[in-house]
Order: sequence, then structure tokens, then C-alpha cells
Amino acid sequence: MATYVVHVVTGNFLFSGTIDSIYLTLVGTDGESPQTVLDNWGPDFYPGAKRDYEITCKNDLGEILLVRLKKEPVFSVLSTSWYCNFVKVTSPQGKGYVFPCYQWIEGHEHVELREGTATTPAMDILPLLQDWRRKQLAQRQACYGWKVFAKGVPYCLDVDSIKELDTNIKFSFIKLAGFSKISRESKIELKLKGFSDSQESWEELENIKDIFWFNKTDVSVAVMDDWKKDEFFAYQFLNGVNPTMIQRCTKIPPNFPVTQEMVAKSLGDSTTLQKELEKGTIFLVDYRILEGVSAGLNNGHQQYIAAPLCLLHLSGDKLMPIAIQLSQTPGPEAPIFLPSDPEWDWILAKTWVRNADFHIHQALSHLLRTHLLAEVFAIATLRQLPMCHPLYKLLIPHMRYTLHINTLARERLASRGGVFDRATGTGFDGLAELLQKGTAALTFSSLCLPEELEARGVSSLPKYYYRDDGLKIWEAVESFVSGIVDLYYENDNSVRGDFELQAWIDEIFTKGFLKQESSGIPSSFNTVKELKKFLTMVIYTSSAQHAAVNSGQYDLGAWMPNFPPSMRKPPPKTKGTANLEDYKDTIPAINTTCIILSTLWVLSAPSADMIPLGEYPDEHFTETGPKSLIENFQGCLSKISKRIEERNKPFPTIYRYTYLDPPLIENSISI
Ligand code: FE2
Repeated sequence: MATYVVHVVTGNFLFSGTIDSIYLTLVGTDGESPQTVLDNWGPDFYPGAKRDYEITCKNDLGEILLVRLKKEPVFSVLSTSWYCNFVKVTSPQGKGYVFPCYQWIEGHEHVELREGTATTPAMDILPLLQDWRRKQLAQRQACYGWKVFAKGVPYCLDVDSIKELDTNIKFSFIKLAGFSKISRESKIELKLKGFSDSQESWEELENIKDIFWFNKTDVSVAVMDDWKKDEFFAYQFLNGVNPTMIQRCTKIPPNFPVTQEMVAKSLGDSTTLQKELEKGTIFLVDYRILEGVSAGLNNGHQQYIAAPLCLLHLSGDKLMPIAIQLSQTPGPEAPIFLPSDPEWDWILAKTWVRNADFHIHQALSHLLRTHLLAEVFAIATLRQLPMCHPLYKLLIPHMRYTLHINTLARERLASRGGVFDRATGTGFDGLAELLQKGTAALTFSSLCLPEELEARGVSSLPKYYYRDDGLKIWEAVESFVSGIVDLYYENDNSVRGDFELQAWIDEIFTKGFLKQESSGIPSSFNTVKELKKFLTMVIYTSSAQHAAVNSGQYDLGAWMPNFPPSMRKPPPKTKGTANLEDYKDTIPAINTTCIILSTLWVLSAPSADMIPLGEYPDEHFTETGPKSLIENFQGCLSKISKRIEERNKPFPTIYRYTYLDPPLIENSISI
């Protein structure tokens, strides 16, 4: 007789427990145990339950390879789902085997768990285990399919609504409740104020402060005071929610004919534009990609889009805007606005730049380059890497809730009749055009922070905390990923021979980057080095990069004139015509302001069950090697966080850059 001790752990959160019967079978190299019901005195599978059971077999089972779990409802009409964390088996000789589960088991379902040691396909010699890999991928591929989101844009999950989502990729009850609470509160508040139905212009700009008066952040309040300041306008190119546009300018572009005379006053007496260009202290922000994008209708009225250019000058450690042109085509109808222009001319020109920034931020920096790509990485991981694969174990925590939030975004935000269609200048069609242009322009190097910064020539810019914090986090992720890859891939041949990994990258190349070779995205991996770089990009994009472009949306957008989603009048063609009344009739009307602000609030609110970068409460890795790499990674992130905290201390709230502080970065895109 051989007696095995089985330790079963139920997830510790709302509704994770079950009253159904659970049966367990052990499968070893030398045979199987009888199927045994797991039934101790009292309830067995309540949230957080950790229970031990004994299973007795006639013979020793050898090495334990699999655990079969079967759930059977006690009452057929009252079946409850069960979330199992893991099962641990201890043999009669005292050897322990851990079987990670971390999934829901529903109805009459049964699952077969593998012992947790990570293996690539080449490491699996036993046909039983090879079969397990094949069966799992076949099941996943049947469950998670691809569909076209829009022409020329990355593919997405083949579902039309969150109702169709598999439980394992859905929000938790707590997350869903928090999410719905804010949506409900914001709707009620706007209805009470009568804001939801008003298509009028704001009577006083001050009145914008009344929206969500009870939900201000320190930064959102400071923005209300500083929004007109040139210094704050320039600061947002470095440390705002869209900090990837600014580039060094070595030559004035031919379509932006700024002259020495125009900028002399801004530059001061002791220098010239030419000298500053040579010194590397002139910077450019160019919204060329917006040229020709169709504008939509808000409240049934035509909206307008500009493709501005903005020149900035660095003096000491102060960056200031010195010229703005609102069109890519120079000429008498495209005046170059200057800080010395009449007050409202200059404010309006800057507001047009902020509006262009809104479009690029939402469609490209946020939606395309983080959400949509992370969805592609997530679907490819589910379809091509079985649970025992080391890279599944590495990546899956960085994909938590991504498919749910993206499905929700496609239902409510980026759909015809959705928030973008009703309340932003691009509407649905313009958004689709912009996404297509952005997809065609996607490159691998632009997704890799060190190369992306290098290409923009911004290494000398002072106080560029997005760059400084981002590079440190990139390095920490790279070192963690590198350690994991080295544990499972001996050399380039082992990378080339991993057919599951090759199918994964091929699917990403095909479905995410639409086979565009010009993107530089690999369609296969040939070396360990290539693999490490790609995985670093995947984790960085799905965590830090998303935090950089997501977390500050309400802080910086709650004062709508700082981040207007649409413009109701065309860009000015002459100087001297702008005034406050005209300004109020140009920025969004009351109801569209409210639609956007409630969305930004929901998207920036901290999630109830957020998991910060580098935390892995689900222990998919069971070996000591990866576990100690995780500890090192956490140590690096904690040092980075301390340095950020120290650096921020002397600054006023508005200039404290926290969006890349590791404890505030979520491990995955979930909002
Ligand atoms: Fe987001």
C-alpha cells in the first residue's frame, strides 16, 4: 500500500469557493490512483481553504506526472464554480510535487494538471506529456480565436461582447464591481447637474471645475491653475501622458518656416536660432500623421482636426515653446503663432496642439501601441504556449484582464456610436484611419525604449523623467527576462528548435504586425539574444509603457482645456481674431466634455485588485531558479521606486513624476 498526501488550495477571493464535489486522480510513471472524492469533515473548498487529503493506492505510482480534477455539482441546478490555486502531492517517500492550476473549474468540467516544472517541447520525452501539451493547445485554440477589428489594424479576440468571454480571462467580481460603481456614480452626478444633455458651450471656463467636484486629484487641481503657462505646456511633452512625441531638431523643416526674427525674443539677445540648432537645444513636436485624417460629428456638428508643428527651446533646464504652426502646409493661411502674440491667439494655438496630442495619445500611444498589441501577445500566448512552457509562466501574469478590458473598449469606446465616435474629433471613421496609419508605421525599434529614445535624440534633455525612470525599468525587466531565458534555452539551437515558441512569434508577426517586414518584427527567432529583446519589449509594453500613457489621463485631462478631445471650429487662419468667447465655442460642448471626463475617470481610477509590476501571487514557476530571479527583480524595482520618491520630494505636486513608480505600475493592461 502507498499513501499520498494531497494538499488542495482554493483561491482566496470572493466567490472562488464551491459546494460541489471534487474528485482527484493521481497519474504517475507506474500507474494511476483510484479516483477519490476529496471530502473532509466540514466545508472543503471555501475561499482561501487549504485542505489535506490522503489517497491510498495498492502500489507506488513512481514519479507523479499529472493530477486529474473532476467537479460534480451536488445539486444539478445549484452548481458553483471553483477557482483552484494549486495542488501539492507528497509521496510516501516524502517527495513533494506541485501542480499549479490558477483557473476556474465550472459545471461538470474536469481538468488535468501537470507537475509544475517548466519545460519546452524538447524537454518532454514521455509521450503522455507530449500529448498533454497538444491537447491543451487544441483546447485553447478552439476557445480563443482571432477576428479582424478594422482593416489594416492588429487582429483581436473573436468575441463581440464581454458576455462571450471565457471565465478565466474575465475581470474578478471585485474588479467588476469597482468598475461599475464609478461608471454609475459618474452618470448619476452628470444627470443631476443637467450636464449630460447640454450641447451648449461652457458659459464660464471655471464651470468645468464643477464636473466631478468630489473627485479631484492633487495634480488635476494644480493643472487648473497652471494650464496657460508655457512651462507647463512644454513639461507635458516630457512627463505628461503622451511623452513620446518630442524630438531633437537639427534643421528647421521646410514646411515650418520659422525665422530668426520670429524667435529672437524667445531666444534672447546672446544667441541665434542657428546657434541653438547647432547646440542641440531646439526640439520639435510634429503631428504630421494627423494630416488628412477625417474629422467626425459631435452632437451632429462637424468637428475639425489639425496637424500642428511646435518648436521648443531649451535654456538651462527650462524647456519652452517658441513657435506653433497649425498646418503641415505653410503659407499665408497658416500663420506661425508665437508666445508674443495676443494672449488668446497663443492660448488657442497651444490648445490646438493639446487637441492633436489627445488624438495621437488615445489612438496610437495608448490604444494601438499598448492595448491592441498586448491583446495580440495575450492571444498568441494562450493559443501557442501550453501552461508548462517557461514563457507561458513568464508572460501570463502580464496579460491578466487584458482581453476583458479590450473587449469592453471595443464595445463601448472604440465602436460606432461609442465614446470616441460621439465625443472626440476623429469619430469612429477617423479613429480607424488613424489606427491604420499607426499600424503601417509600427516598428519593432520604436517599441523598444532605448532605441526609441535614441531615434528621437533626446538623451540630453534635462528632467525627462519618463525617459530616466523608463530606462531603469527596462533594464530591470531585461535582466529578469534574460535570467529566465538562460535557465531554459542553452543556446541558439534550443531557441530555433522550440516549435511552440516559433509558432507564437509567427502568429504575432502575422496577426499583430500584419506580416509587414518593414516593421522589423521577427517572424521567427534565431538566437537567444533576439528572444530576450522581444520578451523584454512584451513585458515592458504590457506594464510600464501602458502605465506611462494611462495613469495620468484624469490628472491631466480633468481640466478639459488642457486635453480637449475635439475642436468645434476650424484652426484660425489669421492672427488677432481669437478671444475668450471664440475659445469657449471652439473647445468641446458641455455634454461631450462630460462623456470624455467620465471615461478618463474610469480609466485612471486605481483598480480594486491591482497587482503591481514584478509581483507574482500566482506561482506558475515552482523551481527555485525562477523564484530567486523574481526576488532579484522585485529588489531592483524597489530600489528604483526609492530613488523616484527621493527625486520627487522637493518638487511641487504638479511636477512630481509618479506614473513610472514601480508600485504604481500594474503588471498587465487591465484598464
Ligand atoms: Fe489603458
